[in-house]
Amino acid sequence: MIKTLSDIKEMRVAGKLAAEVLEMITPFVKPGISTGELDSICHDYIINEQNAIPANVGYRGFEKTICSSLNQVVCHGIPDYKRILKNGDILNIDVTVLKDGWHGDTSKMFLVGKCKPHNERLVKITQECLYKAIEIVKPGAYLGDIGHVIQKHAEKNYYSVVEEYCGHGIGKVYHEDPQILHYGEQGTGLQLKEGMCFTIEPMINLGSKFTKSLSDGWTVETKDGRNSAQWEHTLAVTSDGCEVLTKRTEETF
Ligand code: MF3
Ligand code: CO
Ligand code: CO
Repeated sequence: MIKTLSDIKEMRVAGKLAAEVLEMITPFVKPGISTGELDSICHDYIINEQNAIPANVGYRGFEKTICSSLNQVVCHGIPDYKRILKNGDILNIDVTVLKDGWHGDTSKMFLVGKCKPHNERLVKITQECLYKAIEIVKPGAYLGDIGHVIQKHAEKNYYSVVEEYCGHGIGKVYHEDPQILHYGEQGTGLQLKEGMCFTIEPMINLGSKFTKSLSDGWTVETKDGRNSAQWEHTLAVTSDGCEVLTKRTEETF
């Protein structure tokens, strides 16, 4: 569970590659392109340009490189050449790159064309939830503090936090302990230690927190059909805070 500085050096490489996939795909995310095409572009980029492995392919039978979660899809949307992006959609692309045995896992939201203010706001507040959580990560902080700050910011804005899916420890193993809940009470749960690596990946709903799984075995949607947003980073706990291993150039932590 605790990574050495040399482990984190390798995690930094994997994290950077994952971030670069999201940067690379950004100009392609426009009305008219399919989620299947976006997936194929990411797949070829990871294999051919990054000489790395798309970790989602074959993970528990998932067949694609990215999860593409549109509008009311909470997470694990399956890319599809028949699913064409349209003006006003909100889309999450979630990608994990495996490089030299180490994982980097990250996702971001895209506003497709011109979106309704209520969707823009959901996307922005969800990003703030992630950023507020990142801000409090340091040795001695509790896992419950992370959940609490996310839940507080979401609920203050009349949104709800999805409870069935959570962040996770990450390293040579894609999903390892501990689970990082996106709700909770301050001062509860595990205390963070330098060298821990994990993701924070809040899923925030416009309406109620409840979800349903579709019969494809992967896609998770909101029960009430209202939209959901998610942002994800992979972090390493440092001596006095944390390093965001999947930081994109546009971000200043
Ligand atoms: N990347 C997702 C996460 O954040 C997991 C996707 S699993 C897949 O943990 F199989 F759907 F790709
Ligand atoms: Co993750
Ligand atoms: Co992910």
